[in-house]
Amino acid sequence: MKTALVTGSARGIGRAICEELARSGVAQNVVVCDVKKEWCDETVAALRAIEGVKAESLALDVSDEASVVAGVAEAAKLFGSLDIVVNNAGVTRDDLLVRMTAEKWDTVLDINLKGAFLVTREAGKIMMRARSGSIVNIASVVGLMGNAGQANYSASKGGLIALTKTTARELGGRGVRANAVAPGFIDSKMTEVLPDAVKQQMLSVIPMKKFGKVEDVAKAVAFLASDNAAYVTGQVISVNGGMLMP
Ligand SMILES: NC(=O)c1ccc[n+]([C@@H]2O[C@H](COP(=O)([O-])OP(=O)(O)OC[C@H]3O[C@@H](n4cnc5c(N)ncnc54)[C@H](O)[C@@H]3O)[C@@H](O)[C@H]2O)c1
Repeated sequence: MKTALVTGSARGIGRAICEELARSGVAQNVVVCDVKKEWCDETVAALRAIEGVKAESLALDVSDEASVVAGVAEAAKLFGSLDIVVNNAGVTRDDLLVRMTAEKWDTVLDINLKGAFLVTREAGKIMMRARSGSIVNIASVVGLMGNAGQANYSASKGGLIALTKTTARELGGRGVRANAVAPGFIDSKMTEVLPDAVKQQMLSVIPMKKFGKVEDVAKAVAFLASDNAAYVTGQVISVNGGMLMP
C-alpha cells in the first residue's frame, strides 16, 4: 500500500496526477492538498469513486513553513506512511523583466521554488528513515529555455530542476529518488487566460501542432513515482509535444 501527497491538487494538473496515481494502482492512498481544505473536495470525491482507493484532504500552503511542517507530518500520519510526493503547486505573475516588481518575483519564487524545497525537506526526512520514496517535481519547459515575460516563473522552474538533481544526489543512497516533469503548453486554468495571439504563437513552435492535456503530464508523473522507474533519479522528462528537444 503506497501513500501519495500531491500539492496544489484541488484542480488542473495536480488533480489529474492524483487520479492517475490512483487509477494506475501506483498509490492506494492519496492526500490531496491545497491552500484551502474545501477546495480539495471535488478531487477527493473523484478519488473515492475509484475502487480500493482512499483519499483525504489537507490545507497546505506550500509558501508557509509552519503549514508545510504541520501538513507533511499530518499526511504521514493519515495512512501511516508517505511514499510519493509530487511538488505540483505553482503560480504565474507574468511581466517583462524591466517592469517586474519585487513582489511578483517573491510570490512566484516563494510558491514554486521555496514551497517545493520545504515540502521536500519535510518529506525527505520521513522517506530517508523509511529508506524508500519517490519525489516528483513539476517544472516547466520554460525552466529549460527561458521565456520572455516570465523571468520569475522560468527562474523558479530552472531552480526547481536544480533542486531535483541535488535532492537525487543527497537522498539517493537512502533509497529516495527525485525526478522532474517539464510540461510544455498544457490546456488548464493557468493557460486559458492567455491571449489568443500568444496561443497561436505557441502552436506554431510545437511540432505536434496541439497543446497537451493534464492527463499527458499525469502519466509521466505516475511512471516516475512508480517502481517501474526504480533506477531513474535526477532526471527531467519533457512532456511538450516536441516544443523543445534539449
Ligand atoms: N498549464 C501549463 O501549461 C503548465 C505548463 C508547465 C508547468 N505547469 C506547472 O504545473 C503545475 C500545475 O499547474 P496547473 O496548470 O494545473 O495550474 P492551476 O492554476 O490550475 O493549479 C495550480 C494549483 O496550485 C494551487 N496553489 C497555488 N498556490 C499554492 C500554495 N501557496 N500552496 C498550495 N497550493 C497552491 C492552486 O490553488 C491550484 O489548485 C504548476 O506548478 C505549473 O507551474 C503548468
